[in-house]
Amino acid sequence: MIDIHAVTVQFGGVKALDDLTVQLTAPVCGLIGPNGAGKTTLVNLLSGFARAKAGSVEVDGHSLLALSPVQRVRFGLRRSFQTEQVVEDLSIWDNVLAILEQVDSDRANYTEKVGTVLHYTGLAEVAGAWGSQINLFQRRKLELAKALVGTPRVLLLDEPGAGINEQEAEQLRDLIVGIHGFCGAQVLLIDHDVELIKGTCTQTLVLDFGRLLAVGATLEVLNAPQVRRAYLGT
Ligand SMILES: Nc1ncnc2c1ncn2[C@@H]1O[C@H](COP(=O)(O)OP(=O)(O)OP(=O)(O)O)[C@@H](O)[C@H]1O
Ligand SMILES: [Mg+2]
Repeated sequence: MIDIHAVTVQFGGVKALDDLTVQLTAPVCGLIGPNGAGKTTLVNLLSGFARAKAGSVEVDGHSLLALSPVQRVRFGLRRSFQTEQVVEDLSIWDNVLAILEQVDSDRANYTEKVGTVLHYTGLAEVAGAWGSQINLFQRRKLELAKALVGTPRVLLLDEPGAGINEQEAEQLRDLIVGIHGFCGAQVLLIDHDVELIKGTCTQTLVLDFGRLLAVGATLEVLNAPQVRRAYLGT
């Protein structure tokens, strides 16, 4: 569970998050809102790249904001980036292994751990290919595999579906829905694709100007008048 209490993040005169209080409890939570709403700021705050001016965040009862970004990764807070960070001249296997070496000091089961996430993400057959040789969808799945390897507690996925086609989006949807069962991690999913949010998230949080516009069961939230006005333009 992610428990956000009275959090404000300010950049100059702009409150990117403005006194935000919300509890995210579902295995897969959606995070949506118009451009500039504060979505990326929230992911940056959770992963340690943005600083709160006020407030507190607890993940599974552990206070988060005093930890450095590296400590948070070791704690199990993992994120994917909107533009994939593939090392082109490493194999797919080694791209994942390089992350595992940073998050897990127990070298005993590295082979099994890397193999398991490559299998889960459907990348086992291209494990030996170079980063430069795989297509966009495989790069997106590699980004997910890197966030999954080790023992993630919370996965922050920033537009994992950017640029892929509809059939691929369906596969991605199945992967995201399965993450909690696969490793027990809670997922926070940012995406502009409302269908992807509907298909994966049981709870959804909507931000607008850094403030909480709505939170609750996804379908109810998407149908709420204030959300339709602010976000869906109706
Ligand atoms: N490093 C920064 N310095 C100054 N202002 C920032 C910074 N990061 C974000 N902001 C401002 O904070 C507000 C929230 O931005 P944020 O990137 O979190 O929005 P977002 O919901 O992710 O938007 P988008 O859908 O466009 O990605 C915006 O007004 C933005 O201009
Ligand atoms: Mg953003």
